[in-house]
Amino acid sequence: MNPILAKGKILSNRLLLEGGLLYEMKILTPEMAAGALPGQFVQVDCGEGTSLRRPISICDCDDITLTLCYDVRGKGTLAMAKMPVGGEIDLLGPIGRGFEIPEQGRVLLVGGGIGIYPLVKPASLLGGRAKALLGFRNASLVNGVEYFTDYGAEALVCTDDGSYGVHGFVTSLLEEELKAGDATVLICGPMPMMKAAAAVCAKYGAAAQVSLEERMGCGVGACLACVCKIKVKDGDGEKHARVCVDGPVFDASEVVW
Ligand SMILES: Cc1cc2nc3c(=O)[nH]c(=O)nc-3n(C[C@H](O)[C@H](O)[C@H](O)COP(=O)(O)OP(=O)(O)OC[C@H]3O[C@@H](n4cnc5c(N)ncnc54)[C@H](O)[C@@H]3O)c2cc1C
Ligand code: FES
Repeated sequence: MNPILAKGKILSNRLLLEGGLLYEMKILTPEMAAGALPGQFVQVDCGEGTSLRRPISICDCDDITLTLCYDVRGKGTLAMAKMPVGGEIDLLGPIGRGFEIPEQGRVLLVGGGIGIYPLVKPASLLGGRAKALLGFRNASLVNGVEYFTDYGAEALVCTDDGSYGVHGFVTSLLEEELKAGDATVLICGPMPMMKAAAAVCAKYGAAAQVSLEERMGCGVGACLACVCKIKVKDGDGEKHARVCVDGPVFDASEVVW
């Protein structure tokens, strides 16, 4: 569906991580929710006094509601955190090319930090065919695991410092999984993590999709603020792609890292 402008009603806006700055907002917006696909995002008018909307991924959706999970980083997301339950929120979306969900076979959902949340909708569609490999810096930042297990996915957690779950990076878990058998891999997280995970997938010949993140302006393909480089298919060379509308999800093998 083409992106639409719609007002949504805020059903909840709750702090997810005690002592942290991570929030979950549920929004009643039937027109937008019904057409949303996994891996797409919405442009939020945070109402903080600028005309710049902020891109936030669709964490989950059903026929009438969208769930967004967001980290408070600056003025826009701080204004979102203060939006009252029952109030209105102005959205543009759903935007972009999302994850292609394979019809068969095992799927590994590889997420890091806030990047775990765009993988929740794929988990809801995959159920027991999905295994989530979730990486965090330390135990105090571990969150959201139940979003995956509630949908029947298995979840393995690792932390950089070993304070929770397996000690090490999510790429080590990924390598162990791909040694054990083939899988399609969906990846979202910090750039260095996605680059390393894409390299592991290439080593084992596993099909992989990555959700890229760039600073955005318009969010609808017009301003070119969000361009990244991708390889020309079936040829030499590179070309520019707009993360907002040509992505945010790309085949990992076409990304110029
Ligand atoms: C396609 C897409 C999906 C996203 N999904 C989510 C999501 O589901 N949850 C979430 O919490 N965040 C998500 N983000 C990032 C989110 O858009 C930014 O954190 C937000 O716009 C910051 O706005 P602000 O006004 O609060 O902070 P600002 O004052 O604009 O910035 C605060 C800090 O965040 C950094 N920053 C701002 N925008 C980005 C960006 N796009 N990428 C990397 N760093 C940035 C700035 O450099 C600065 O250091 C997504 C970004 C994109 C492009
Ligand atoms: S944000 Fe304007 S073209 Fe992508």
